[in-house]
Amino acid sequence: MNVLLIGSGGREHALAWKIAQSPMLGSLFAAPGNPGIADHADLVAIDLTDHQAVTALCRDKAIDLVVVGPEAPLVDGLADTLAAAGIKVFGPSAKAAQLEGSKGFTKDLCARQDIPTAAYERFNNAPKAKAYVRTQGVPIVIKADGLAAGKGVTVAMTLEEAFDAIEDCFEGAYGEAGAEVVVEEFLTGEEASFFCLCDGETALPFGTAQDHKRVGDGDTGPNTGGMGAYSPAPVMTEDLIAQTMRDIIEPTMRGMAEMGAPFSGVLYAGLMIDETGPKLIEYNVRFGDPECQVLMMRLKDDILVLLSAAASGGLKHVSARWSDETALTVVMAAEGYPGTPRKGTVIAGVDKAEADGAKVFHAGTAVKDGALVATGGRVLNVTASGEDVQTAQARAYAAVDLIDWPGGFCRRDIGWRAVARERNLD
Ligand code: AMP
Ligand code: GLY
Repeated sequence: MNVLLIGSGGREHALAWKIAQSPMLGSLFAAPGNPGIADHADLVAIDLTDHQAVTALCRDKAIDLVVVGPEAPLVDGLADTLAAAGIKVFGPSAKAAQLEGSKGFTKDLCARQDIPTAAYERFNNAPKAKAYVRTQGVPIVIKADGLAAGKGVTVAMTLEEAFDAIEDCFEGAYGEAGAEVVVEEFLTGEEASFFCLCDGETALPFGTAQDHKRVGDGDTGPNTGGMGAYSPAPVMTEDLIAQTMRDIIEPTMRGMAEMGAPFSGVLYAGLMIDETGPKLIEYNVRFGDPECQVLMMRLKDDILVLLSAAASGGLKHVSARWSDETALTVVMAAEGYPGTPRKGTVIAGVDKAEADGAKVFHAGTAVKDGALVATGGRVLNVTASGEDVQTAQARAYAAVDLIDWPGGFCRRDIGWRAVARERNLD
């Protein structure tokens, strides 16, 4: 089977690494890819917004399956164009990708299907949104409706913060994404990420993880795309997984099918867990990054069998088995991230970290004059496994310390909640 992988982050490096282990694989191509992905795939430079060019590439390389990593090409309809050309694709249609592309769309679906989530209202102007905030009080959550690269959410602790966030949205801080605003109830509890592979009809549970969104130790500082993750998430017990499938995932699959937009690809539910059970914070229509890295470390089965089953309606015939070990990944980012990251700094020691037993997934890297250099915000994902979170954490940081990159930084406490929980049990 010839495969084209779309994307260039740590998520896609982890997918490429796992796809390359499949006995079913013929040739693997990646567009645009990165130096880590290049170990497993032929890289192709192509404009991903030119869907006809992607279709032509698939024909030229006799591609049997396209795996789309990031959300933007999905919301933009790449899967629709490929499907119309008869090319099998892992990833939802543009209409189904609205689950991530429009927070209002998802909230309305939750309301119709009685899915547990924060109470909300949708607004298209600031005065009405502010009046609603006044009636609700703080804390309260303000969200730009559309894709805002993870930056469109403000958890406002004061009325002033809430009003500023509303003004930012309507004054264009997030472009078109902020033309509509969702104001929602502030939820408390513990967050977890839950993944399902979907084929339009069947949803197959596909692992749990916890991410660390804030840039600083102890969950302080601004939000990022994710500074580290581990899997499984101990908070997601078998009972909670069953409850999430019954109350959240299955009604979503039914609701999407009823709308004529059956969901296929990976459905990533951001959950808040409290004593009453799971509530949906948001959906993403792609693997989490860096959550995918830890899922791929733990998956025992052939990822290509699973992705092609999802792409062709065959999920009810397959299952996924996982290692009992915990996998943990530490994101190394360029100084300045999540603001403007410093580019071009030289990275050494990746081979030493891998010789130490870790797997280092690349994100924003390039090779320049024979040296590995940083080109983006999140740059490396140093990933290790162990029989518990403490062991995986110690191994990951031992490998981080072998990487010589003065222009980079990482959090030193990835997994802290789970480690504290393990220590309490000791
Ligand atoms: P999102 O970009 O939608 O994942 O939101 C970013 C983060 O904001 C989430 O991971 C939560 O920590 C927080 N958040 C979003 N919605 C809520 C909510 N209704 N209540 C409390 N925290 C929230
Ligand atoms: N790590 C969070 C995300 O991928 O959205």
